[in-house]
Amino acid sequence: MTEPASISTPEGEDLLFRLLRQLDTAPDASQRATAAAVGISLGRLNTLLRAAADSGLITISNRPGPDKRQRFAYSLTTRGAAEKVRLTDQFLARKLAEYNALHAELTGSARGLPPLKHRTNPMQSNLAPIPELYVSYESAQKLKVEAADLVSWDLTPRQICDLELLMNGGFNPLKGFLSEADYNSVVDTMRLTDGSLWPMPITLDVSEDFAAKLEAGQDIALRDQEGVILATMTVTDNWVPNKAKEAEKVFGADDDAHPAVNYLHNQAGKVYLGGPVTGIQQPVHYDFRARRDTPNELRAYFRKLGWTKVVAFQTRNPLHRAHQELTFRAAREAQANLLIHPVVGMTKPGDVDHFTRVRCYEAVLDKYPAATTTMSLLNLAMRMAGPREAVWHGLIRKNHGCTHFIVGRDHAGPGKNSQGQDFYGPYDAQELFKKHQDEIGLEMVDFKHMVYVQEKAQYYPVSEVPEGDTVLDISGTELRRRLREGLEIPEWFSFPEVVKELRRTSPPRSKQGFTVFFTGFSGSGKSTIANALMAKLMEMGGRPVTLLDGDIVRKNLSSELGFSKEHRDLNIRRIGYVASEITKNGGIAICAPIAPYATTRRAVREEIEQFGAFVEVHVATTIEECERRDRKGLYKLAREGKIKEFTGISDPYDVPEAPELRVETENVEVDNCAHQVLLKLENMGLIAG
Ligand code: PPS
Repeated sequence: MTEPASISTPEGEDLLFRLLRQLDTAPDASQRATAAAVGISLGRLNTLLRAAADSGLITISNRPGPDKRQRFAYSLTTRGAAEKVRLTDQFLARKLAEYNALHAELTGSARGLPPLKHRTNPMQSNLAPIPELYVSYESAQKLKVEAADLVSWDLTPRQICDLELLMNGGFNPLKGFLSEADYNSVVDTMRLTDGSLWPMPITLDVSEDFAAKLEAGQDIALRDQEGVILATMTVTDNWVPNKAKEAEKVFGADDDAHPAVNYLHNQAGKVYLGGPVTGIQQPVHYDFRARRDTPNELRAYFRKLGWTKVVAFQTRNPLHRAHQELTFRAAREAQANLLIHPVVGMTKPGDVDHFTRVRCYEAVLDKYPAATTTMSLLNLAMRMAGPREAVWHGLIRKNHGCTHFIVGRDHAGPGKNSQGQDFYGPYDAQELFKKHQDEIGLEMVDFKHMVYVQEKAQYYPVSEVPEGDTVLDISGTELRRRLREGLEIPEWFSFPEVVKELRRTSPPRSKQGFTVFFTGFSGSGKSTIANALMAKLMEMGGRPVTLLDGDIVRKNLSSELGFSKEHRDLNIRRIGYVASEITKNGGIAICAPIAPYATTRRAVREEIEQFGAFVEVHVATTIEECERRDRKGLYKLAREGKIKEFTGISDPYDVPEAPELRVETENVEVDNCAHQVLLKLENMGLIAG
C-alpha cells in the first residue's frame, strides 16, 4: 500500500526538495530513475508527483512516443522553482546545523571553546588550545570507511597546504573552504560575513566537469595525491568566481606577472566549492617531521617552556648573518622568545628549495643564545599578496601561539609587474598590519634593515651606522650571481655552514641541468638543428644530453594522441615533465616539438625553471618557406584537407613573444644555427666558455 505524502510535514518537505531538485536537473529521466534518485518507491513517487502538481509546483503533460515508461513529462512552475530555492536553503541550513553539532560533539570544541579537558586551569589566551577540525581517532576510522563511497576530489599541492592549516587550526576561525558569501566578503572587505578579519580567499577550486556532478549539500571526500582520504567536505556552495575581480582586489592587479594571479588564471579550476570540512587525518610529511608543529603543538611547547611572549619570524629565504642579527634584536626589543617560522609549503617560484633551506636554518639555530629560540616549519602555500598576506601571516602566527610578529619592507612581495614596477609600496604591508594589529592580536615588530659596518666588524641597523664608516652589503641578486659563478661569499655575510649548503644545491650554472626548447612550424628545421646541437654538446661532455624530438616523443611517449588542442597540450606537458626531471637531475634536455600554444609553453617553462634554465628557441622559418620545402609532403595533404588541424594551415601557432633566441633558417647553414644556440648557452653561463 502506498503511504499518503503530505508535503507540508518536515519529512514531506525533505522528499519534495529531493523531487524538485531531481526534476529540475533530469526532467527527462524515466519514473524509475527519478524514484531511485529520490530514494522512494514508484508508488510513493506517483503520490508525491500528484501532491506537487496539486500544489501548483509542477506541471505534468503527456509525452508523445512509443516508450510507455516515459509517458509523462514534468517541469517546475515558477512557484515550483521558487519553492526549490527555499527548500535548498532550508536543507543547507539544517545540514550546517547538523554538521556543527556533530563537529562540536566529535572534537569537543563547541562554539570555538577549547576542549573540556583544557578548560579547568586558566591559561594565557595565546597559549590555550585552539579548535581544530579533526574528529577523534575512532570517528576518523569510521568516517574513512564511509568516505570510501563518496565522490572524491584529488587535492592539488596548494589545496593540501590549505587543508592542513584549516584542519589543524592554523586558519582559525575558518571551518572549511569559504562559502560564496564569505568569499565575496573577503574579496571586497577582507572580512568574513560574520565580521571577522580574514584577508585571503581560501577556496577549493575544481574543474567544471567535477562541479557539475555535485548537488547542494553533498558530502565529498578530499584525497591527497596518493589517494589517501584526508577529510570530507559538505559542499554548500558551488559557483564560478569572477577571477579578474579577485586578482584586482586581493592581489592589487589583474596581471599575470603576479605569481598568484598567474596561478588563478592558468592553474586554478574554473569553479569554486565551499563548505565545512571534517578532518580525518593530517597530510603525511616524510621530511623534517620533528620540525613540523601544529598550532596546538607549538602552544603546548611554549606553555611547557613558560614562553609567554613569542616573536615570530616568517621567511622563505635562507638566513644569513643580517637575519640572525635582526631577529635576535627583535626578540630582545620585545623581551620575548623567538620563533623562526619558515614557510615550507609553497613559496615564490624560483626560491631555494625547502630541503636546502631547512638544513641552512638548522645551522643558524646554533648561533642564537641557548634556549631563547626555536624553529618550526609551516606548511603554508604563500600567495605573495604583500599587505593582505602580512595580515594573513599575522593571523596564522597568532593561531600558532605567538604574541609578536616581524614585518619588514615589502613583506611577501611578488616582484615586478608586467610594466616593471612594484605591485605594492614598500611599507604598505607594515601600514595595513599596524592598522589591524589589535584585531589580529599580535604586536608588529619593525624589521630593521641590518648592514655590516667594516670598521666596527659588526652589524648595525642601517639608520644607526656611525658617520663616515663603511657599509658592506650583498643583495640577493648578487648572492645568486656569486653562487652561480662559484665566487667567494665572505664570512661577514653568511655562516660558512650555510654557504656550504647553498653551494651543494646551487652549483655554478655551468654545472646545472637546463632545457633547450625549440618551437616552430612543422618542417621549420627544429629537429635538424636540435640534432646538430646535441652532437656539439655531447662532444663537449660533462653532462648527459637527451633529445626529445616531436616525432620521437609521439612514437614513444604520446602514441595515442592526435592533434586536437587538448592532445597537443598533453603532449607538450609530457615533454615538459620529462625535461624538468632531466634538468632537475643535472642533465641537458633538448626538446623539439611544434608546441604551438603560448600558455602551454609558459606552463612548461615554469615547471622547468624550478630546477634550471629554460632556453626557448624560436625556429622562425615562415610558413610559406616550410610549405615550399614540404619535406614530409604533409602541407600538400593539409591543403587538400586530408590532414585536419594542421599547424599554420588550419590550426593556430602563437609566435613566441620573447624567446631567449630566435633563429632564421632561410639561407643559413644548420651548423650555423646550432652554433647560435651554443653561443646563447655560453652567454647565459650554461656552458663554460
Ligand atoms: S605538437 O603540436 O607540438 O603536439 O606537435 P608535435 O608533437 O611536435 O608533432 C608534430 C609532427 O607531427 C606531424 N603532424 C602534424 N603537425 C602539425 N599539425 C598536424 N595536424 C599534424 N599531423 C601530423 C608533423 O610531421 C610534425 O612533425 P615536425 O617534426 O614538426 O615536422
